[in-house]
Amino acid sequence: MIKNKSIYILGIESSCDDTSASVICNGKILSNVVANQEIHAKYGGVVPELASRAHQQNIVPVIQQAIQQANIDKKDLNAIAFTRGPGLMGSLLVGTSFAKSLSLALNIPLIAVNHMQGHVLAHFIDDENQQKPPFPFLCLTISGGHTQIVKIINYFTMEVLGETLDDAVGEAYDKSAKIIGLPYPGGPLVDKYAKLGNPKSFKFTKPKVDGLNFSFSGLKTAILYFIQKQVKENPNFIEENLNDICASIQFTIVEILFDKVKKAVKQTGINHIAIAGGVSANSEIRKILKSFETTLGWTTYIPKFEYTTDNAGMIAIVGYLKFLENNFSNESITATARLKVNEN
Ligand code: KG4
Ligand code: ZN
Repeated sequence: MIKNKSIYILGIESSCDDTSASVICNGKILSNVVANQEIHAKYGGVVPELASRAHQQNIVPVIQQAIQQANIDKKDLNAIAFTRGPGLMGSLLVGTSFAKSLSLALNIPLIAVNHMQGHVLAHFIDDENQQKPPFPFLCLTISGGHTQIVKIINYFTMEVLGETLDDAVGEAYDKSAKIIGLPYPGGPLVDKYAKLGNPKSFKFTKPKVDGLNFSFSGLKTAILYFIQKQVKENPNFIEENLNDICASIQFTIVEILFDKVKKAVKQTGINHIAIAGGVSANSEIRKILKSFETTLGWTTYIPKFEYTTDNAGMIAIVGYLKFLENNFSNESITATARLKVNEN
């Protein structure tokens, strides 16, 4: 490793519906630009073909902005890191192809990054307001596509202890939100309305799943039947009870998640607990996890809000950690829609 040298890495993220670019210098984020794609809201979910097209439109200005905000020249970059997978193929291809071309044009190394490792390793971004977890720690990785409890042994050795057997928790939020007429993505809206409601208003049965695995599809169906029944009796049921419905849904989801995390702590004896992924932006999940510091003696690691939902800062930090290990990719690397958290 070259000491006292500034290493600049450009991170590119395009796995789903956010186009993002970030410049990191020796682990510190200099810029982290995210362009959200509003287009999907009216379809009630991400439309892959439209996402891919929007990435094509956004990628050049987003990268230019990230380099500009970092106050560097593209010639200062030491490597290009990009999300290889998992994600939507049409979306991944845009970032992958762009990263390859830029690395060839600038004659600098290319670094493939696993998006899920990005969510977890966002905890290692150098930031005065963010404490880095020690190894080994447990990470509850919760997003629109994943729900996992992962044992993080070191930066690139991870073991999945449990995961969802069907829907991801982000899907549970978004699909429940859709049932009560909220636009996509509904997760942040359920969070917002839940703050004003009574979490004990309505009771939804929690799934019975063995070990450290999760299931969320039954909850979604239970919510659907409950709402259909109530609306039949009172057509204004949703508007009259929106806050209480959201608070009750959120209460059930949070209990399902932390029941399993508590079990994982007992099983492993590890009580350094982190959360990662888009759903870790949720205010109740953050609050409850923090409260376990005093009630259960855990040490908890809650990422800065901007590193929770998809962003290129988390890709750039993995790029930097791989750069330090000379872990580069060659130009024949391909995007892949499926990639497990422990695959590189
Ligand atoms: O990590 P992410 O940005 O994309 C994926 O890799 O999937 O996660 C997106 C998911 C969506 O399901 C969104 O509704 C959910 O994260 N989300 C939230 C909140 N903010 C984002 N869910 C609950 N509460 C929030 N505050
Ligand atoms: Zn993600």
